[in-house]
Amino acid sequence: MATRTPLMAGNWKMNLDHQQAIATVQKLAWALKDGKHDYAAVEVAVLVPFTDLRSVQTLVDADKLELKYGAQDVSAHESGAYTGEISPVFLSKLGVTYVAIGHSERRQYHGEDEAVTNAKVKSALGAGLVPILCVGEELSVREEGRQVPHTLAQLDGGLEGLTAAQVAGLVIAYEPVWAIGTGKTATPEDAQELAEAIRVRIGELYDAATAQAVRVLYGGSVKSSNVAALMTKPDVDGALVGGASLDPEEFAKIARYQSHTL
Ligand code: PGA
Repeated sequence: MATRTPLMAGNWKMNLDHQQAIATVQKLAWALKDGKHDYAAVEVAVLVPFTDLRSVQTLVDADKLELKYGAQDVSAHESGAYTGEISPVFLSKLGVTYVAIGHSERRQYHGEDEAVTNAKVKSALGAGLVPILCVGEELSVREEGRQVPHTLAQLDGGLEGLTAAQVAGLVIAYEPVWAIGTGKTATPEDAQELAEAIRVRIGELYDAATAQAVRVLYGGSVKSSNVAALMTKPDVDGALVGGASLDPEEFAKIARYQSHTL
């Protein structure tokens, strides 16, 4: 069986300007160093606003930090007349590793559908970035018990036309919309149900090796107090952390989940 390196990715959303970003990343790096964090055992990344990227890159390079960083969205196009958009090539030049695609807030406020997420996944891959494809159901869908087919339809659409090799390197984040920013975390069993369903579907669409290689994160009100229980689940390979990632001490504690007692 493939061994997947867990990933703790902080999604800052539209918080922290470039000066605050420097201070926050410094504090995070110190907190991880204090805890003797083993980055090879648990990867840590921050997904920051576009305007923070250059500052974060400068700090990461200067201090030789093992921390990875990324963006929260990307254009489906490489260049051209797309006012306000950011090319994946620009991100790659800034040393970006990850880019979140199809976050529920992008789907909800910017009308991003499967055609858009699929085009963005392809454009990110084309520039050598690692997409974190976000999928997950709204509360009404869960109340009707349709969370699995709903989430898998988002997955299928996002992966359309990709090769097995491309999919093996992806990160999929399962984020039930009703658990985002609400303080309502899905139970570890809920997270496992979807993480497993996502992996099984990738096995059906591609093959077992691809399914074993892809990393599936859970996101939605993850905190230091609930991360360890979520991480006991076999198909949960990490977390996409919103609010709690703005506090560097708390986020470092989340990354150190292996030392928590359950
Ligand atoms: P939250 O956000 O941790 O604040 O719920 C998660 C996300 O939206 O990625």
